[in-house]
Amino acid sequence: MVFLAFAILYGHSARAEEPIRIRFSHVVAEGTPKGQAALAFKREAEKRLGTKVRVEVYPNGTLFSDADEMAALLGGKVEILAPSLSKFEPYTKKLRVFDLPFLFDGVRAIDRFQNGPAGLALLGAMTDRGIRGLAFLHNGMKQMIATRPLRRPENLRGLAVRLQDSDVIEAQFRALGANPVRLDFARVGEAVEKGAVEAQENTWSNIASQGFHKRQRHVTETNHAPLEYLMVTSTRFWDSLPALVRLNLEVVLTKITLDNADLAAELNDQDRRRIQKDGAEIIRLSQGELALWRQAMEPVWRRFEPEIGKDLIDAALAANTR
Ligand code: SIN
Repeated sequence: MVFLAFAILYGHSARAEEPIRIRFSHVVAEGTPKGQAALAFKREAEKRLGTKVRVEVYPNGTLFSDADEMAALLGGKVEILAPSLSKFEPYTKKLRVFDLPFLFDGVRAIDRFQNGPAGLALLGAMTDRGIRGLAFLHNGMKQMIATRPLRRPENLRGLAVRLQDSDVIEAQFRALGANPVRLDFARVGEAVEKGAVEAQENTWSNIASQGFHKRQRHVTETNHAPLEYLMVTSTRFWDSLPALVRLNLEVVLTKITLDNADLAAELNDQDRRRIQKDGAEIIRLSQGELALWRQAMEPVWRRFEPEIGKDLIDAALAANTR
């Protein structure tokens, strides 16, 4: 009987002698907050579960790119991804709340929102599509970067601006009179190099790790929206795991999420300094200048409120003020 219970928990059988293969694919460099979280997940999972699991981490889009990774997850070709929340638009409109410009005051507010009831419910927003949210991860707040100084929102008018595949972000840049160009992350470096995009938004960490600031020499510190990730797996893979393996992975997820919060802030600070040291101009905005960016971008909220839900937007706003 005891053996039977043990066997059920561990999924003990001839098949279970083989380690469970967990492929974790992502599109950024290993030194970034997400790159480090993926390596920490491997380290901690293998420490806790020994030979029961083997985690393989594929950074820099070496296994799948933005365009094909979700299909690969649903097709059982990879077990874990951590796309930026903007990339879930085809699966749920709820996560669009994170793309609304100037909604969150900063990463601490995002933490409060994600750990409150409204944020936690978002982990399950895609289960009907076969996607299970495991844990949120931070990168940091996005800045603007361009081939010319962007001090006022109208400085973006007419510029080709790279963006993620997101209707909200496209609306944000259209509100500023820019020409939005949707591009997979893996293709941005080449587009910057060739001058095909003149501006973009990203975190200090993604800018520095890709060296975007070596071509686009002006970074405007707008902190206008977060770059957040959701670690996801397929419900099929997750439900197939022995209960004890799932339980241990949940413990690992809690640990790496907590560690990621501090590390992400530290890495972004370091990369901000690195960008400055490399001679790029960092434009700090006065409160008045920042208010102009906010005014220009905020109308986007109204357009997306019906899909996102007023309740969710209000819960996000409430996280700012505690
Ligand atoms: C990422 O950090 O995963 C990429 C974000 C982007 O496409 O800008």
